[in-house]
Amino acid sequence: MDVSKLMFREGLMAGERILVTGGGTGLGREMAEAFLKLGATVYICGRRQGKLDETAEELTKLHGGKIVGHACDIRDPDAIHAMVDSIWADGGALTGVVNNAAGNFISRTEDLSVNGFNAIADIVMRGTFYVTLDIGKRLIAEKKRASFLSILTTWVWSGSAFVVPSAMSKTAINAMTQSLAAEWGRYGLRFNAIAPGLFPTKGMSARLNPAGSGGNSNNAMNPLGRAGEMHELANLAVFLMGPGAEYVNGQTIAIDGAGYQATGGTFYPMLHSLGDAEWEQMRSLIKSTNAKDKAERTVG
Ligand code: HXC
Repeated sequence: MDVSKLMFREGLMAGERILVTGGGTGLGREMAEAFLKLGATVYICGRRQGKLDETAEELTKLHGGKIVGHACDIRDPDAIHAMVDSIWADGGALTGVVNNAAGNFISRTEDLSVNGFNAIADIVMRGTFYVTLDIGKRLIAEKKRASFLSILTTWVWSGSAFVVPSAMSKTAINAMTQSLAAEWGRYGLRFNAIAPGLFPTKGMSARLNPAGSGGNSNNAMNPLGRAGEMHELANLAVFLMGPGAEYVNGQTIAIDGAGYQATGGTFYPMLHSLGDAEWEQMRSLIKSTNAKDKAERTVG
């Protein structure tokens, strides 16, 4: 990310302690970089310790500060508890949590197995809730304030063909955001969400656009004629996580160049006419990406 495009003053996030789930790669890494650059202590978790260490090392070299990687599969509540214990032991309560970790792949729904559904729902819906519950309970007991931010999609408003487990799970987290904003507001805990449009990352492209087609036509269909730039997402995340706008609570904010208003922002136009052979090809491309990632995992 071009950090010179961050719109906030140096030191804005000094004293903040933020966990970014899935922070080793993709959008999570970009947000972690912005928080670190602005002075926060940052914790990142994911399933590949090697990737987390690499990210922590690269970002420290660039910006100094403190960023620590924890291998943790958020599908495992005990592993979350142990990770959060060690974060607390390393300097006390978190002041912010970014629920960013996700899993997704495109598929015709009739081709999904129960395991395929659960692989996504266990990460996106259940895992996000486990993280929020574990940390929320501690903050309530200690009377500490914090900001929670979940990374969703505009499918929480529209649904989306061909990514049904993700659309269902993210919609559940949208409901969590609105519900806990009301229920836990009294404890000084606030909940917001961002619904990013197209911000291409390696993990996303490999699973949502495996044949490498459709990316440019998607850009051309966007009212701004382009995908999002990482600093734009990071600026919104800092606004919601940093000090100064605490009255924003219970909101899901899209950042998609009005792609949602223009075209609905779903996969339907790109995928509805594909036939068996094309789906078979995409399935095998996605599965080989999954296998490669799995070989690098140290947990999960
Ligand atoms: C059908 C598939 C499949 C596919 C996997 N499965 N890929 N089924 N089509 N393409 C099935 C498998 O066959 C298996 O079911 C089950 O899913 C579990 O597969 P595993 O590979 O063992 O799963 P696991 O190791 O748990 O990995 C989880 C994952 C993986 C979700 C499948 O993709 C992952 O870890 N992803 C993390 C990163 C990621 O997805 N990034 C993109 C996020 S983008 P059976 O029945 O065979 O046992 C995003 C929003 C984008 O979230 C928004 C854009 C606007």
